[in-house]
Amino acid sequence: MNTVIVGAQWGDEGKGKIVDFLTEDADVVIRAQGGNNAGHTVIANGEKYVLHLVPSGILWPDKTNIIGNGVVLDPFGLLEELDTLRGQGVVISSDNLAISEGAHLVLPYHRGLDRRRESNRGQRKIGTTGRGIGPSYGDKVDRTGLRVADFNQPDRLMEKLAAKVEEANLIFESVGEEKLNLKEIGDQLLDAAEKLSPHVRNCVTYAHEQIQAGKSLLFEGAQGTYLDIDHGTFPFVTSSNTTVGGAITGSGVPPKFIDRVIGVTKAYTTRVGEGPFVSEDEAISDMLHGMGREFGATTGRARRCGWFDSVLVSYATLVNGIDQLALTNLDGLDGLDEIKICTSYKLGGEMLTAPPPHSRDWDQCEPVYESHPGWKTQTTEARTFDDLPAAARKYLARIEELCGVPVAILGVGPDRAQTLVA
Ligand code: GDP
Ligand code: IMO
Ligand code: MG
Repeated sequence: MNTVIVGAQWGDEGKGKIVDFLTEDADVVIRAQGGNNAGHTVIANGEKYVLHLVPSGILWPDKTNIIGNGVVLDPFGLLEELDTLRGQGVVISSDNLAISEGAHLVLPYHRGLDRRRESNRGQRKIGTTGRGIGPSYGDKVDRTGLRVADFNQPDRLMEKLAAKVEEANLIFESVGEEKLNLKEIGDQLLDAAEKLSPHVRNCVTYAHEQIQAGKSLLFEGAQGTYLDIDHGTFPFVTSSNTTVGGAITGSGVPPKFIDRVIGVTKAYTTRVGEGPFVSEDEAISDMLHGMGREFGATTGRARRCGWFDSVLVSYATLVNGIDQLALTNLDGLDGLDEIKICTSYKLGGEMLTAPPPHSRDWDQCEPVYESHPGWKTQTTEARTFDDLPAAARKYLARIEELCGVPVAILGVGPDRAQTLVA
């Protein structure tokens, strides 16, 4: 059984936790897009792990993890992440972590350019994570980027690096910013390349060998459907395909091998960064932040929060072919008297049950809510759906009805153990 996990909202739905949970029954976990803009928190056996580039299957010994060709890989960020994980006792070797030769690199000038472009945008800034993601994917599409495949040709790597650093320095110089030191970056990159090289292999043939051997693959999505470069709230999106297609192009595993797509959604909605958010709500934001929840794992920024929006999630089921939902953070709603669901958008005189055709209209949409009674009971100890209060079960049933797919997995707390299967 090969399963793609996608975010059905604006990221941070709890994909890492769900991937970690499902890895028990899988053999290979593949990250196929995004970079270290992602932050996936997994809590297992009381220990908290934050993953950025390393797939969330890494906590299970004897499972293989792949960083696919569709990922943009910051070699220094990855080495730091590996150090942190090893410091927490996670065993990582070339046996359980493979890196695709096709992955493009994120280098320090990408971060510099990301910052610069954001400040040039002024009021229209995207609110990026500042990890250099857009500029790195830009180089990929422009066909000038450096790739992991260049690691085994140091001369060629340095030649390409010199051209890119020179290009970036012209920009930094023109705005009076400090220029990058080619020698310094070059030495650091060669050192990182040497350290990462044992993990580098042809991950396409490797994944296909695993399929032939009857193994189960799990594709870990990063970001979410509405941050997708094609289907998201453009331009307030990331620079990759976060929807199901990204898992295919970013891994070299064709659709005929995909058996199931699971969409991960929160029981409410969050978003980090700028852009439209129809069901955003200050009171629910204040409540969740007051509980110490909803601060970003990558940048520490407070996430914007709002009610569950079935316009978003039902449309995400179409775009991704979602078969089942994994709904996380139900416990976040435990204390509320009233819980709302945004079921459609009002735009001018029209009622929309799918996102507006023109992205500029998103901002003009007003939410139309239905109201549900809260359960006002702690759900964090529930271990089966039957343990849930009746009002919580009704809330889930309504979400299933609105989105047209079953809630197959439920999260009632951040720990691996707080995961229920229908
Ligand atoms: P990802 O980027 O989709 O992997 O999600 P993040 O890890 O960035 O954000 C999800 C946050 O919710 C993390 O802090 C998780 O530990 C936490 N989380 C996931 N599922 C649950 C849940 O069911 N209940 C609670 N309370 N926290 C959860
Ligand atoms: P995970 O995998 C939430 C958002 C940024 C910004 C926009 C573009 O943890 O769900 P970028 O740095 O990618 O150019 O920023 O996308 N963003 C995320 N929001 N979760 C993420 O990843 C995100 N990765 C990027 O906040 O709005
Ligand atoms: Mg996250």
